[in-house]
Amino acid sequence: MFGLKTLGQFIIEKQSDFPYAKGELSRLLRDIGIAAKIVNREVNKAGLMDILGKAGSTNIQGEQQQKLDVYANDQFISALSSGGECCIVASEENDEIIRIDSAVSKGAKYIVAIDPLDGSSNIDVNVPIGTIFSIYRRKNLEVPASLADVLQNGTEQVAAGYIIYGSSTMLVYTTGKGVNGFTLDPSIGEFCLSHPDMKTPETGTIYSINEGNYVHFPQGVKKYIKYCQVEDKQTQRPYTSRYIGSMVADLHRNLLKGGIFIYPATASAPNGKLRLVYECNPMAFIIEQAGGKATNGESRILELQVTELHQRSQIFIGSRCMVETAERFMLEAGKLSFADIPALTI
Ligand code: AHG
Ligand code: MN
Ligand code: MN
Repeated sequence: MFGLKTLGQFIIEKQSDFPYAKGELSRLLRDIGIAAKIVNREVNKAGLMDILGKAGSTNIQGEQQQKLDVYANDQFISALSSGGECCIVASEENDEIIRIDSAVSKGAKYIVAIDPLDGSSNIDVNVPIGTIFSIYRRKNLEVPASLADVLQNGTEQVAAGYIIYGSSTMLVYTTGKGVNGFTLDPSIGEFCLSHPDMKTPETGTIYSINEGNYVHFPQGVKKYIKYCQVEDKQTQRPYTSRYIGSMVADLHRNLLKGGIFIYPATASAPNGKLRLVYECNPMAFIIEQAGGKATNGESRILELQVTELHQRSQIFIGSRCMVETAERFMLEAGKLSFADIPALTI
């Protein structure tokens, strides 16, 4: 059907893109692919097993952990630990970084930041969920690996990707040379290249935002939403609103069809909800590599200074023209203004 090139074959072929590499990154990507298949197996039979619902614990952000959050986290950490190429894992589900001592002693070069299960609120209701990962190289091989190796700006990512557990399961990744998507063929248990060199449209007609929080949004976001809803033939407005509540699924759809995804700041959450290290940066890297754009309303996401492991950022991400228009609205409204809009003039 696809000429059947597997993820493993593709990774090996692409290894020559990195003449200095000795295959470690390829092995790391392969390990992530294996963990993804194991998580996919559990996600697929979730309703049949005692794996739905709350785990009874909370993570560092005070969020209830679901059993699948914990399961996916364990699987990725275990695959990365036994693989031997990753010396530190930073996960949404762990307060602190996890050092993999066996890999440290071998001099492993890579760091993985991960959101093992994205879209937790959708687990129990059979709606697409995902995994997001980001790979960095250690900054200095002469000194022991530490948190400093994780706190690198998004521009330093050597690879990033996501897995979407949807109507089919896909793994999409970039190493900074374009974006490629692989669909899991369950009959052979392999991810097969189905979406080579993915590009996102320059503009689109989909806007994705949790509009239930409208009253709390900054003025520029409120105005942009109204702009999306006004009729204008030339720009094909009104746009259509699509919001799944799993960032991976919302962004995957918008990547393919063209659109904008916004998770704004609010007065009570001035940096928004989404986490920079394992949600915003990897998705920004992928979307930029597909020709799109990602900003925090004024600056490029990938250039934001990373100071904390679980740091949050407001995000505007997707088709370039749409993100630029939203940025213009933010600029005109003034920096993070939450003032009420008495009457709307577009
Ligand atoms: P996670 O399940 O990893 O905590 O991430 C959930 C995120 C993201 O996937 C989604 O876009 C957003 O939270 C949804 O938040 P709201 O329910 O506030 O819209
Ligand atoms: Mn998430
Ligand atoms: Mn998560």
